[in-house]
Amino acid sequence: MSADFIDLPQLLSARGTVRLPGSKSISNRVLLLAALAAGETEVRDLLLSDDTARMLDALRTLGVGVEPGAGNRWCISGVAGRFPVRASELFLGNAGTAFRPLTAVLALAGGHYRMAGVARMHERPIGDLVDALRQLGADISYLGNEGFPPLAIRPPALLPGRVVSLRGDVSSQFLTGLLMALPLLGVETTVEVIGELISKPYVEITLASMARFGVHVRRDGWRRFTVPADSGYRSPGVVHVEGDASSASYFLALGAIGGGPLRVEGVGLDSIQGDVRFTEALAAMGAQVSSGDNWIEASAPVAGTGTLRGISLDCNHIPDAAMTLATTALFAVGPTTLRNIASWRVKETDRIAAMATELRKLGVRVEAGDDFIRVHPPGAGQFLHPAAIDTYDDHRIAMCFSLAALGTPLRINDPQSVGKTFPDYFARFAEVSQGVPVIAIDGTSASGKGTIAARVAQALGWHYLDSGALYRLTALAAGRAGIGVDDEAGVAAIAADLDVVFAGASITLSGEEVSDAIRSEEISAAASRVAALPAVRAALLFRQRAFRRPPGLVADGRDMASVVFPDALTKVFLTASVEMRAWRRHKQLIEKGMAASIAALSLDLRERDERDSQRSVAPMQQSADAELLDTTNLTIETAVAQVLDWVNKVPKVG
Ligand code: DC
Repeated sequence: MSADFIDLPQLLSARGTVRLPGSKSISNRVLLLAALAAGETEVRDLLLSDDTARMLDALRTLGVGVEPGAGNRWCISGVAGRFPVRASELFLGNAGTAFRPLTAVLALAGGHYRMAGVARMHERPIGDLVDALRQLGADISYLGNEGFPPLAIRPPALLPGRVVSLRGDVSSQFLTGLLMALPLLGVETTVEVIGELISKPYVEITLASMARFGVHVRRDGWRRFTVPADSGYRSPGVVHVEGDASSASYFLALGAIGGGPLRVEGVGLDSIQGDVRFTEALAAMGAQVSSGDNWIEASAPVAGTGTLRGISLDCNHIPDAAMTLATTALFAVGPTTLRNIASWRVKETDRIAAMATELRKLGVRVEAGDDFIRVHPPGAGQFLHPAAIDTYDDHRIAMCFSLAALGTPLRINDPQSVGKTFPDYFARFAEVSQGVPVIAIDGTSASGKGTIAARVAQALGWHYLDSGALYRLTALAAGRAGIGVDDEAGVAAIAADLDVVFAGASITLSGEEVSDAIRSEEISAAASRVAALPAVRAALLFRQRAFRRPPGLVADGRDMASVVFPDALTKVFLTASVEMRAWRRHKQLIEKGMAASIAALSLDLRERDERDSQRSVAPMQQSADAELLDTTNLTIETAVAQVLDWVNKVPKVG
C-alpha cells in the first residue's frame, strides 16, 4: 500500500470469514529454532510480514539456508548451533521478536556482530537481557545509550553451569530470548525471574516451540526455568504456524460490534497463543463467541438483550489483544478499564499515550495512567467524531482504530504500518464489512444534479452532500481573506479550515448565512478555478467522505464516482444541452433577483465545462460504471424516478 492514508467509510455491519495470516510470535520463534536445529525444517503457513522479513534477512546474513517454496512454505537448513558467518552487521528494523532472541543467541554462540534497528528500536530497553547474558560471560557493549540498542557483540568467555537472574517485569521477550539461547551452552542452566513475570502466555509459546524442536524446559511456577544439559535442537521435519491470535482479535471484535457472525480461520480456542483468551474478554462484554476445529466466531449480543457492556480487566495475560478492547469499548455501554498494561509503554510506541491521544480525537473521554487506560464511550444520542488517526509506526494502533469505523467515517494515516504482522489487513477488512451506501451523481454545471440529488436523498431518507458548495465556499472564503487563486497553499489552508454548517437549505460560513452568496456567477467562476488546484481537492477529500453517515448518502459533484466515493452503490452521470442549462440557470438567477443574460451564461458554462473536464486532477468525466442521464428533455420528476429505479436495481447490502 503506497498511500499515506486510508479512508474508511462508516460501516453498517460486519460479517463473513477471514483466513488469518500466520502468528508473528510463532513464525519468528520457529524460524530461529529451525535455523539453530540439526536438520532441515519445512515451515508451513509462515507469516510474511515486516517482522518475519527482518528475521529471514538476519538468518540469511548469518549463513543459514532459507528457501521459499510453494504457498507459504519455507525450507530452513539448520546449522546445529553454529552459524557459518561469524562476523556481520544485522539490521532488525523494529522487530522485537527478532532483536531480543538474536541478541541472546549470538552473544552465546560466539562471533563478532553489530545489531541495530530503526530509531524506535533504539528506544526500546534491552538492558535486563544484556545483564543476564553477561552473568554467563557474554561480551556485549552498547553503541549508543546504556541499556538500549544498537549493540556490539564479541565472542564470550563462557561461565556456564549457573543460575542466572533476569528481571521479568519489563518485557517477556528477554526471558524468551534467553531460554531459546541456553541450549547452545550444552550444560544445565537455570533462569530465576526477579519481579512479576509479565506476558506469561508469550513465554508459553516459547516453551511450546522449544519443545517442538526437542528441548524441554523444566518450569517451577513462573519463577525458575531450567534448560537441561545436552539439549540441542533437532528439527521435527515439518512445522505448521498457527494463525495469529492477536490478528484474530480485530475481526472478532468487528463481529461483536457489527452484528456478525464473523469467523476467523487458522486458530482455535486450543491454540498455544495466549491471545485467544481475548475471546473471554469479548464474551464478558456480552458478545456471543463460538469455536470449533481451527476457527473462532463472534457475533453481537443476542438480539433484544442490548449492546456490549464495558468491563474492568487485568490484561496481563493478553497484552497485545487488550489494545483491541480499547476501541471495542467505544461501542459498549459504560466505561471500560484496562489494567496492568504498563508494558504497552515500551512497545512499538508508547501505546498508552498513543491510544489515549487518538481516542480523544473521536470525541470521547479517556483517562490514562502509568499502567491503565479507561475509555468512556459516547453517551446516548452522541456520536463519534470523524477524525484522522495517527498510527505511530505501530501496526496495532492502525488495526485497532479500524473498528471505530463502525461509529464514524475515519481516516487512518500511514496504514502500511500493518505490514509488521498483517500486510493485507485492510483488504480483508473491506471484504467482511459493509459501508454506508452512497449514490454518486456527477455531471456538468446546471445539469440539474443538485435538485435531482437532493430529491433522491429526500425520497430515500438519506443524507445529501452538495460537494460543489464546498468549492464555492472555499472560493468565497479565500476571496474574503484576500487570497488569490494562484496561491494554492493559501487556498488549500482555507479549504482545510472552513467553518461551515449545512442545515437543510441553509449554509453558514463562520456563522454567516451564505447560501445565496455562493451561487453568484462570480463565485461560480472562482469555484471552478479553486477546484482545479490539487491541494484544495486533497484538503476537501475527507470532509466530503465524512458526510457518509447512516442510513446512506446521495452526493453530487464532478468526481463523486471517480475519486471521492469510488465504491458508490449507484453512479449516475447527468448532462443536458448547453442551451437548456443556460436557460435553467437564467431562470434560477432571475427568480433570485439577479441579473443575467442567456448568451453570457452559455459562454460561461462552456468555459466551465472545459475547465472542469480538462484539469489534471479529478477531471469531470463519466465513470465507466456510471449510468448516463441526459436531462435536456426530462422533467425533474422523471429524472428522479429514473435514478431511484437504478438504485432499486442494485442488490441490497447491510
Ligand atoms: O456543482 P457546482 O456548480 O456547485 O460546482 C462548483 C464548482 O466546483 C464547479 O466549477 C466544479 C467544481 N466542483 C468540482 O470540481 N468537484 C466537485 N465534486 C464539485 C464541484
